[in-house]
Amino acid sequence: MEAPPPTRQLEVPELTVPAPEAVGQLAFWNDVGVEPVPVREIASAEMVRERVAALAREIAHDMGAEPLTLAVVLRGAFVFAADLARELIVNKMENLLVTFFHASSYRGTKAWRAPVIEELGDPSTDGRQTILIIDDIVDAGHTAQAMINRLASPTRRIEYCSLLDRPEAREVPVHPRYVGFHLRGPGFVVGYGLDYDGKYRELPYLAQWIPPPPTAG
Ligand code: IMP
Ligand code: MG
Repeated sequence: MEAPPPTRQLEVPELTVPAPEAVGQLAFWNDVGVEPVPVREIASAEMVRERVAALAREIAHDMGAEPLTLAVVLRGAFVFAADLARELIVNKMENLLVTFFHASSYRGTKAWRAPVIEELGDPSTDGRQTILIIDDIVDAGHTAQAMINRLASPTRRIEYCSLLDRPEAREVPVHPRYVGFHLRGPGFVVGYGLDYDGKYRELPYLAQWIPPPPTAG
């Protein structure tokens, strides 16, 4: 039987990302620099910063000063992990190791069922019993499940922290304990490390990616 999700102490804010067909597309083209970027901002850089700081306070409160390994799921989580790690220091979590995993599961907006997980560099989780996996988004849940399977051991405590969580898309029963924002709707999110085909990772805010209108002729 599926285990119930752990009780959360703090409320998780919700962001709406509607199906793009349902909205007037051109209204959502932002001017960033010279090129129009086909995105609609859903959370400002300031909103994201505040939410990451709140998550760090919650994690520090729960985990105290115990030695912790941050297992960062590349590539999408690189911006989130960098900000979260520095917020953890602000909250006196100084005994940190950071290690990196590469998970490949997506081409465009299409998922590959079984993501391939690869640890980059030498394994550096040895001797540490508490691991916090840091991810950009838990969608169907296959990546989260693969990360947990990869790191699970009877003597370890593994917690999952994801900037975004889209519970409606879940295909496997994984429940990240720490979530920045819940997503409502099927829209595809970019920015703050998340990409569409390698693009838009550098945007300082979170945005919904809008497919370009069909070209005439
Ligand atoms: P899952 O394995 O289906 O849960 O997918 C998780 C991975 O898919 C994330 O780590 C992202 O790399 C990617 N992904 C899923 N939804 C989005 C999205 O809306 N924007 C960008 N990447 C996404
Ligand atoms: Mg990812």
